[in-house]
Amino acid sequence: MNDAIGFIGLGRLGLPMATNLIKSGYPLRVYNRTASKAESLVAQGAQLAGTPADVVETGGVIASIVWDDAALESIVMSDGFLERLGAGGIHLSMSTVSPEMSKKLAAIHAQHGSTYVEAPIFGRPEAAVAHQLWIPCAGPQHAKERIQPLLKAMGGQGIFDFGEEIGAALLVKLVGNFLIISAGHSLREALAMAEKNGVDPRAVVDMLTQTLFDAPIYRSYGKMIAEKNAPFGQSKIPLKDIGLFKNAAQQVDSSTPLASFLYDLLSSDGARA
Ligand SMILES: NC(=O)c1ccc[n+]([C@@H]2O[C@H](COP(=O)([O-])OP(=O)(O)OC[C@H]3O[C@@H](n4cnc5c(N)ncnc54)[C@H](OP(=O)(O)O)[C@@H]3O)[C@@H](O)[C@H]2O)c1
Repeated sequence: MNDAIGFIGLGRLGLPMATNLIKSGYPLRVYNRTASKAESLVAQGAQLAGTPADVVETGGVIASIVWDDAALESIVMSDGFLERLGAGGIHLSMSTVSPEMSKKLAAIHAQHGSTYVEAPIFGRPEAAVAHQLWIPCAGPQHAKERIQPLLKAMGGQGIFDFGEEIGAALLVKLVGNFLIISAGHSLREALAMAEKNGVDPRAVVDMLTQTLFDAPIYRSYGKMIAEKNAPFGQSKIPLKDIGLFKNAAQQVDSSTPLASFLYDLLSSDGARA
């Protein structure tokens, strides 16, 4: 019998990941700000908690995947959360947040005797369902070893260890999303130019992804854009994550002409790829 896990955040990505855990035989206690999103999990046997602290078991593992810095901080600082997690407890934090927030929360957990591990997620909700997530992680070794099976059960097809320094895995996530978002925008512009000149964008994608651009992002986004589907739709993730990328660069005086351009483009309504 697997140990029970606390799971916080049943949004678009969290829900399929929590569902995978239940299907893999992990008893779950779940919390979501909007409780109704837990219905399908409760129907599969999960226990619904009324507060974040209520999913926590002293010395146990609690996984969270919420929207941003403010949401994650409010969960961690909510009444009783840290006190209950206590010595030996692990918080597996999977939200895409700033590396600074992650470091701050890691230090606060340490003051309470628990361990914070970051493992942000590459992959859409459909990839979670299909167990095709890629997951960079960072944090103390003993905690990473304990959470490995959980990350696999949640839908991880590959887990990449970026060491013990908190913040490292989130930097990888921000770099990855900057590259993904840049690729989406450059594909949209390139294929529109080809099509307006009378060249079939599907044929362009077909050739380029069999040759010089043989990569999952170019294949999937190229196909979507050629078929007039927007890879990011109305998602607010590109704006949030390019903002986080820019801030992380500013902290170390790294220049970001392209990220700044994309940020302005995404801030102006309707400019999403
Ligand atoms: N969706 C993707 O394709 C994808 C891919 C990779 C990584 N991510 C990252 O994964 C995280 C979750 O993304 P998502 O797509 O699942 O987002 P989402 O569907 O918008 O869900 C956000 C989750 O955060 C909770 N939340 C938001 N503000 C909160 C607050 N102030 N206090 C407590 N809970 C709060 C929401 O609760 P309510 O249900 O009550 O609103 C919900 O559970 C984000 O950091 C995102 O960047 C997403």
